[in-house]
Amino acid sequence: MLRALAEVSPIPLLISRQSDGEILYCNEKTGALVGLPARELVGRRTLDFYDAAVERAAIFEELRESGRVRDRELLLKTASGEPVWVVCNIEPWHLGGEQLALVALTDVTRRKEVERRLQESEARFRGFVENASELVFALDLRALFTYVSPNATRLLGREPQLLLGQSCDALVHADDLPQLWRCAEQTQLSGVVQPSCEFRLQHQDGSTRWFCSTLAPSRNEQGQVVGLTGTAHDITQEKQAILELQAANQHLRDAQMQLLEREKMASLGMLLAGIAHEVRTPLGAVGSTQQTLAQALEKLTLELREAHPEVISDASVSRLLKVLGDSARVVGAGSTRVSEIVQRLRRFACSEESKLCAVDVNAIAEETLALVQHELRHEVAICKKFGPGVSLMGYPGRINQMLVNLLVNAAHAVRARGRGTITLETRALGDEIEIEVKDDGIGVAPEHLNQIFICGFTTKRHEEGSGLGLAICKTIVNEHHGSIQVCSQVGQGTTFTIRLPRCQPERLTVKPCPFG
Ligand SMILES: Nc1ncnc2c1ncn2[C@@H]1O[C@H](COP(=O)(O)OP(=O)(O)O)[C@@H](O)[C@H]1O
Ligand SMILES: [Mg+2]
Repeated sequence: MLRALAEVSPIPLLISRQSDGEILYCNEKTGALVGLPARELVGRRTLDFYDAAVERAAIFEELRESGRVRDRELLLKTASGEPVWVVCNIEPWHLGGEQLALVALTDVTRRKEVERRLQESEARFRGFVENASELVFALDLRALFTYVSPNATRLLGREPQLLLGQSCDALVHADDLPQLWRCAEQTQLSGVVQPSCEFRLQHQDGSTRWFCSTLAPSRNEQGQVVGLTGTAHDITQEKQAILELQAANQHLRDAQMQLLEREKMASLGMLLAGIAHEVRTPLGAVGSTQQTLAQALEKLTLELREAHPEVISDASVSRLLKVLGDSARVVGAGSTRVSEIVQRLRRFACSEESKLCAVDVNAIAEETLALVQHELRHEVAICKKFGPGVSLMGYPGRINQMLVNLLVNAAHAVRARGRGTITLETRALGDEIEIEVKDDGIGVAPEHLNQIFICGFTTKRHEEGSGLGLAICKTIVNEHHGSIQVCSQVGQGTTFTIRLPRCQPERLTVKPCPFG
């Protein structure tokens, strides 16, 4: 009956002798497993069907130790040498003084093949992920990492294992979190991939890296979204390049505006030099005529006094002579003043872009004050505090222009409040000189303080400000290898402090003065 039971069993069964492995009985299923009729198998040794002979020893070891063998995976080979995977169960049996083994085998070759393919495909995908340049990650619905690709070590200096179970909040820059959450939420709600978003991640070394990431929903078997998977591409270098490009663009725009302003100043300089040249001749004529007139008048008075004292004592004659004398003096003083102004304009026009030379800063400051006199009007008082020995090697025309810009700004700020004072102070400090332009005007709003040196930044109406003044001052200070600082309080006033070194490296280009 037992034999009949074994024959109908769908499981390959056999009985072998433990000592030499001779097969004493097997059912047809066992024959099918190894590719031989059952009757041909009887009398053969089990060892013939092991893929590796050592396995038999291992099985008998287990049999001795545990008294049985349970669910042991084993690689056998068929009669023709094909590999067959089985799960093996053995029960020992004593019969007539002989140690037998009752063996049941389950063919798992198909399952093993599926497993092998699965492992292969998993290894392939792991290879893709692990060798990708992108960071690959998975998050659960609470935004905790459930997977982070090994390249996190290279990209972020972080061990992927240590990130598992951590919230991505800790890694993402606080400013970028809202946008990332919005993207994650939309991916979850819509169940489809959203446009990529950019955010910064914190590197272990404290620096930040820019990433561009795409999120996709991950689903369970029921199709519900249970988390997100994402790839993030490191775009730090691209971002850096864009920033540098923007800075270069801004620099170019600044340079272009300053160039325009310089061109304007240069044309103005030419114009001034031309006018000064034109005015000089008639002015010379007025000056010498006035001198001739004054000398003639003096002579006439002398002669009258000697030859015709009665005429000179005549009240109306002496009044006339006094009027003539006073007029000659007024004309003289006027023409001297105009000559001085013309001289100043010429100096201003011609010193633009001139070569490096010794500069008496106090003298330049005086000149500048005289030039901007009309801008100061009555509302603005000037306080001069010029220190001794304030001289340096520099470009006088440029320093002049810088002081004009600062004084005009100060005058605007003072007049915007009504009245006030501008203090212009110079002092020598060892290897440097310091110029301070201080006003008690309206002051600069704190949010504007870091913008006022930007080319084109102005808070004034179109016709009053171009926003170039301070940008040009900064350029001039840089040309002199110096520094400019601002300190301001709204409603109190503003102080600009410039420091310039006394010595400059010689500049090569020297532009000749127009109209000598
Ligand atoms: N002395 C000052 N007091 C108050 N604000 C000032 C002073 N100097 C400069 N500013 C501010 O800086 C801005 C830029 O100055 P500037 O570059 O000379 O351009 P602009 O005078 O043409 O506006 C001004 O519009 C003003 O808001
Ligand atoms: Mg200005």
